[in-house]
Amino acid sequence: MLFKSIAIEWTGDRLKLLDQRKIPLEETWVECKDHFDVAKAIKDMIVRGAPAIGVSAAFGYVLGFLNALRFSKNELLDHMKKVRDILASSRPTAVNLFWALDRMEKKLNESLENKAEDAFKILESEALKIANEDLEMNKQIGRNGLSLFKNMDSVTLLTHCNAGALATSGYGTALGVIRALKESGKKVKVFVDETRPYLQGARLTAWELVKSSIESILICDNMAGWVMKQGWIDAVIVGADRIAANGDVANKIGTYSLAVLAKKHDIPFYVAAPYSTIDLSTCDGLKIPIEERNHEEVTHIMGIRIAPEKIKVYNPAFDVTDNNLITAIITERGVVTPPYSKKLKELFEG
Ligand code: MRU
Repeated sequence: MLFKSIAIEWTGDRLKLLDQRKIPLEETWVECKDHFDVAKAIKDMIVRGAPAIGVSAAFGYVLGFLNALRFSKNELLDHMKKVRDILASSRPTAVNLFWALDRMEKKLNESLENKAEDAFKILESEALKIANEDLEMNKQIGRNGLSLFKNMDSVTLLTHCNAGALATSGYGTALGVIRALKESGKKVKVFVDETRPYLQGARLTAWELVKSSIESILICDNMAGWVMKQGWIDAVIVGADRIAANGDVANKIGTYSLAVLAKKHDIPFYVAAPYSTIDLSTCDGLKIPIEERNHEEVTHIMGIRIAPEKIKVYNPAFDVTDNNLITAIITERGVVTPPYSKKLKELFEG
């Protein structure tokens, strides 16, 4: 075993993924033997969360290469282009997927003169690097986030979806800040939005927080405004699937409504994400592709129909929160505050 987190395991010739569709009811693992299996696992949300999708795609690329060790150079290049396309078409919004594939493709091009077995080792170590770096970045995001809560002994946060260990190589981004606050000795309480329709909050974040003994309270999404109005929330903290050059943030559907509510109640709204989520080539949020998912996610809950057969459905998986609603973006390189365009560019392009 060469890499193992709470949800991702690389064995050297297989990628094993915790089946996140079944959490918290069952903890079963799915084995991927090639890039087709990995692309399907991402599409079907066996693995989900922007950084975890990127890490899985990197290992999927290695599996694609492993299955083509005997190919000639031209056959290999043609095959690896297809491998990339299959993995890249699994989900459109999280930029970490494309970022990881770009990194792997670059390594492939650098290693073409090597023997196939050596090139495999080079690609495998790049995927491992992506996985291990992600864990380190999350821990640093957590440490950097502490500066926003300096003079508080007790902090109550509201989070949406799952930006935790399950969504990353471990520790988490938004949940990473929450973990760091707890580790620093503060009293921490978390309101967890259930996150309809896929229930990442109720199923995954609640599972992680309970496992980590962090005090948490599950609410339905439509209760967030009322909870804020009572004055119970010190800050909202979420992850991101893609941050555009101007600081607009694509994240799980419902994030935008939370940011509007936070503004109305004068509550800071924080986004926690690593540099692999920042897409300086996309100028603003309107240009971010928003995935639309199966209507059954809305008409059914855990396989049980809750809406009439003929009803029309709209099911965007993400929304975009405008930069002017975001108080700060917490990254591993520092905390960025508005105006974002110049600061993000400086921090991430040097
Ligand atoms: O559809 P999902 O579950 O992949 O969506 C996940 C999110 O929106 C997360 O908030 C985001 O990917 C950040 S995970 C650190």
